[in-house]
Amino acid sequence: MTTINVTEAVLSRRSIRAFHPDRAVSLETLRRVLDKARWAPSGCNFQPWEATVIAGAPLKALQEKLLGEAPQDPIEYSWSDPEVIPECKARLQTVGASMYTAMGIGRGDKDARTEFTRHNVLSFGAPAVLMCYFDRRMGPPQWSDAGMWLQTIMLLLREEGLDSCPQEFMSLYARAIKDFIGVSDETHILFCGIAIGYADPQAVVNTFEREREPLDGKVRFMGFEAEALA
Ligand SMILES: Cc1cc2nc3c(=O)[nH]c(=O)nc-3n(C[C@H](O)[C@H](O)[C@H](O)COP(=O)(O)O)c2cc1C
Repeated sequence: MTTINVTEAVLSRRSIRAFHPDRAVSLETLRRVLDKARWAPSGCNFQPWEATVIAGAPLKALQEKLLGEAPQDPIEYSWSDPEVIPECKARLQTVGASMYTAMGIGRGDKDARTEFTRHNVLSFGAPAVLMCYFDRRMGPPQWSDAGMWLQTIMLLLREEGLDSCPQEFMSLYARAIKDFIGVSDETHILFCGIAIGYADPQAVVNTFEREREPLDGKVRFMGFEAEALA
């Protein structure tokens, strides 16, 4: 375990889309991280999140199964509704362009883009994948709680020198995944996967610049006028 502060954990986390092929993640490390992440907050302390962490032979078997299947219809849930909002669409296009440019994949090369998207099935070579799901009765506040739990996990992984990539892509195969891990499709919705491993330091896909809106474009401050003048 390395000693890093919260700022370092936040700023060094990025979505990793190429993992080191030969470095496994120990159960002990994952248990340590997940044991601490229990302390993530949740409205009414519902702690709605549930997960199965898969590695080794079962992960290989699941990936082989998914490679042979088409995305499910109907979908588990829609993650793309906000694309009708122009700034959301622009952000998606910007991150896509940055990623594919870094990889040398051209704008018109749909096949290469589709092929790379398929790497999601293999969780970009990560040795462990956490599948996060919860009771279907959970509403927007509880989805948000699950997000806090997942970010807590991803930051704690940084402390362990580990990297991650959240994967809502996994929801495209939600029924097949739930069937494989023995979770009821009737009672549970699969939110996302988290690919977990050590980043491949050679991979350009892990190095492109990501954008964020400036603070003042997103957050307003009220009642601090005197301090601003001081
Ligand atoms: C809930 C959630 C689901 C995501 N699903 C995917 C995914 O399926 N595949 C993928 O490559 N990235 C996925 N991402 C990563 C986002 O694209 C990424 O967080 C965003 O572009 C910002 O980049 P950063 O994480 O490197 O800071 C997901 C992120 C979140 C928070």
